[in-house]
Amino acid sequence: MQSIWTKTCEIEKRDAIHKDMKCNTAVIGAGLAGILTGYRLKEKGIDAVILEASNIAGGQTKNTTAKITSQHGSIYSRLLKQFGSEKAKQYANANQEAVKAYESLVVSLNIDCDFEYADAYIYSLSDEKMLVEEQKTAKLLGLPAEFVSSVKLPLRIKGAVKFTNQAQFNPLKFIKRISSELQIYENTPVKAIEENTLTTATGNKIQAENIVFATHFPFINSPGCYFARMHQERSYVVCFENGAGIDGMYIDFEAGGLSFRNYNQYLLIGGENHRTGENTDGGRYNYIINNANQLFPGIKEVTRWSAQDCITTDGVPYIGKYSTKTPDRYVATGFMKWGMTSSMVSAEIISDMITGRKNKNAEVFSPQRYSVNDVKQTCVDEVKSIKCLIKEPLAPAPVTLSDLSPGHGKIVSDKDGKRGVYKDFDGTVYVVDIKCPHLGCQLEWNPDEKSWDCPCHGSRFDYRGKLIDNPAQKDLKGRTK
Ligand code: FES
Repeated sequence: MQSIWTKTCEIEKRDAIHKDMKCNTAVIGAGLAGILTGYRLKEKGIDAVILEASNIAGGQTKNTTAKITSQHGSIYSRLLKQFGSEKAKQYANANQEAVKAYESLVVSLNIDCDFEYADAYIYSLSDEKMLVEEQKTAKLLGLPAEFVSSVKLPLRIKGAVKFTNQAQFNPLKFIKRISSELQIYENTPVKAIEENTLTTATGNKIQAENIVFATHFPFINSPGCYFARMHQERSYVVCFENGAGIDGMYIDFEAGGLSFRNYNQYLLIGGENHRTGENTDGGRYNYIINNANQLFPGIKEVTRWSAQDCITTDGVPYIGKYSTKTPDRYVATGFMKWGMTSSMVSAEIISDMITGRKNKNAEVFSPQRYSVNDVKQTCVDEVKSIKCLIKEPLAPAPVTLSDLSPGHGKIVSDKDGKRGVYKDFDGTVYVVDIKCPHLGCQLEWNPDEKSWDCPCHGSRFDYRGKLIDNPAQKDLKGRTK
């Protein structure tokens, strides 16, 4: 599985770190948020070093649908009720300014990244009233929102909210140019942080006055306790040729609906969101493909991929100080499903904080905010985590190894206890420990991606046990039979 971005753009490799060093700011993570933060810091005269455990844009950045928009589903009606008008306006301003900031970088640096203006739509097949409320709220907050009754999609909609002059691009072509002048070390995982010293897997020490965590999900459990304030969700994308030109970027108002956008001659259709670790039946890509065939007859699959998003308890990213106990550490996480503008917002806020400037939009994103809703949602998440923790030792495993067909994975039980087993088409059997190395929850099989996924905080491993997604930091113990 490979995204259309990795199929169309390759970024030059960088060396791993092999020396000790000192810098003003160490940014951990070379995804879009880390790279843009490094870029903004450089513009402001700060010496920043970016440390990446794998490759530039090798995490979720390569898996996005790359819609640059301040239209984040139907967030504004909710934000107004939950946070009040001042903070809702900060959120709206920060994201609308982020759209403009992309445009400005692309124009000023003449970046060839297939950037184009496109209107963004949230449509509904069943509910016009909620859309009207969302449009009025967004307009009130100063966003370019209008209500329309038809769109260029083969769907019978009740209406849509249109945000004009948003944008779409190829994120890897953009990041390739933006990262070119930055000091980045690839294949350099940070294994420990003590005070202001980071230690890499090779034992090299980096002393930094400031540390920015741009690692998708923060890998340090305490302080901050982000694992108790977020869960992760997966979604799936299929790229087709012979699809129509749909003249915009679209997302369904209802949870679980489909999203659409063009990229050059291709049509990207996404959806099928679910909490990580809750896809034991599979069939997610098939659902998208079946719908695509009905909506756009003659369409042909080019490639498919999936993405993972951090979901915060109150639906707003955590951007700012990592915790009250660590004044020199910063975090950018919980982007919900809106990584393009949230990455730019993170870069603006964190670079302003490090350089002592006031950022007028920062307060709503403060990771130090807490609300009744936070507590409620944390309880829901923790109940799920506890169920997964006690499931590991207690629940019976459903099958034995002899029940397993080639190409399938299952949790099996025998005299050695419960283990995760995958049998490939050659008959080789891969056995892994199914206890998540993060905090010990039981992993679940994801048949669409042949991976072991954790329902608690979203760590993921391939069928051999190799770590794919954090917050876990270790591979699973595994062997072949
Ligand atoms: Fe936290 Fe698995 S990701 S226990």
